[in-house]
Amino acid sequence: MNKVRYGLVGYGNMGSVHADSLFSNKIDNGELVAVCDTDKLKLKNAKEKFHDKVKYYENYEEIVKDNFVDAIIIATPHFSHPQIAILSFKHNKHVLIEKPAGVYTKQVKEMNEEALKHPELTFGIMFNQRTNPIYQKAKEIVSSGELGEIRRTNWLITNWYRPQAYYNSGGWRATWDGEGGGVLLNQSPHQLDLWQWICGMPEKVTAYCEFGKFRDVEVENDVTAFATYPNKATGIFITSTHEYPGTNRFEISGDKGQIIIENDQLIYNQLKVSERVFNQENKEPWSNPGYERIEFNANNRWGMQHNEIIRNFTNAIVHNTPLIAPGIEGINELTISNAMLLSTFINQTIELQSMDEALFLDELQKRMKMSKQ
Ligand SMILES: NC(=O)c1ccc[n+]([C@@H]2O[C@H](COP(=O)([O-])OP(=O)(O)OC[C@H]3O[C@@H](n4cnc5c(N)ncnc54)[C@H](O)[C@@H]3O)[C@@H](O)[C@H]2O)c1
Repeated sequence: MNKVRYGLVGYGNMGSVHADSLFSNKIDNGELVAVCDTDKLKLKNAKEKFHDKVKYYENYEEIVKDNFVDAIIIATPHFSHPQIAILSFKHNKHVLIEKPAGVYTKQVKEMNEEALKHPELTFGIMFNQRTNPIYQKAKEIVSSGELGEIRRTNWLITNWYRPQAYYNSGGWRATWDGEGGGVLLNQSPHQLDLWQWICGMPEKVTAYCEFGKFRDVEVENDVTAFATYPNKATGIFITSTHEYPGTNRFEISGDKGQIIIENDQLIYNQLKVSERVFNQENKEPWSNPGYERIEFNANNRWGMQHNEIIRNFTNAIVHNTPLIAPGIEGINELTISNAMLLSTFINQTIELQSMDEALFLDELQKRMKMSKQ
């Protein structure tokens, strides 16, 4: 295949950006051929832009059957990502889903199982922040073993500020029934993904989620979580949408150094000697291993990240290029997110590998039944 013909499902805030990029030839070897939205007004908006150059559908069951479409981009509310993806795979379409992969791991497992039945199809997820060079650098330093064994990970991500007016803009957002969660499902999946992508999956999570803190919403908008890793390293993840200006600071501490990411800069404090070795050999009570400070800066614009994922996904189909964000990996951050909510729902520490998915769904459905939407 030389050119990937894209069908977009969900011409809303994010989907319209993806469609516009494809339509305006920002993606080599990719073109927009169809748009689907259940909302007639959204389709009208699309028609005013793309005229008769693309086909229009009101039902995703139709667009996925279109033989002129090679790949489907799914940019609908989270609950529907797995069902649209599964049907797309069944109709032989490559699939790029928006984050999060879904709302609960049980539905995402079903999507992954269907994807695995079609190894000839490419399955990607829009974890656009994986394209940011400073996170890629952090991954490289950690995966190469340069940082040594991880001892601590801390992510304070409280600059996802959302005023009440954002929540009042209504629709499916910030309701149990429409969205299935709050900051963990909408804003922070990027950081939860990068956290696990760079540092690996925690073993256990204990979380304190607060629902409707300083905002009239039913879902969580303030989360403080404690994680432990298989090697006994510990981690903290804190996120909120009500603090301003808030902070975005990610620290990883290892046996051979420390990484600090803040303000589009990565500071790598590389120890002159591993802390473990230093501690074994040193006899001076007030000595330390010493370190060299190395800085990496990145000018990575938000809008360009999404195009980079679509470009990479297109190249994966056309040239077999490895995916930056394979769709199958979407379940990882969602498992952490579900575990944080479940930990709060039942007031217990959650072991990720044996998390009771049915109990999570049960607790979620209880809240969905009482939802305002
Ligand atoms: N990667 C990112 O940086 C990023 C940023 C924003 C949103 N998102 C994700 O994109 C998704 C959409 O968010 P949004 O802010 O664009 O929402 P939105 O409400 O603006 O757009 C969603 C669109 O989907 C349509 N839709 C709903 N159900 C549909 C269905 N069954 N078939 C066809 N169309 C349907 C709606 O009518 C709407 O036009 C969410 O999952 C969100 O998390 C990702």
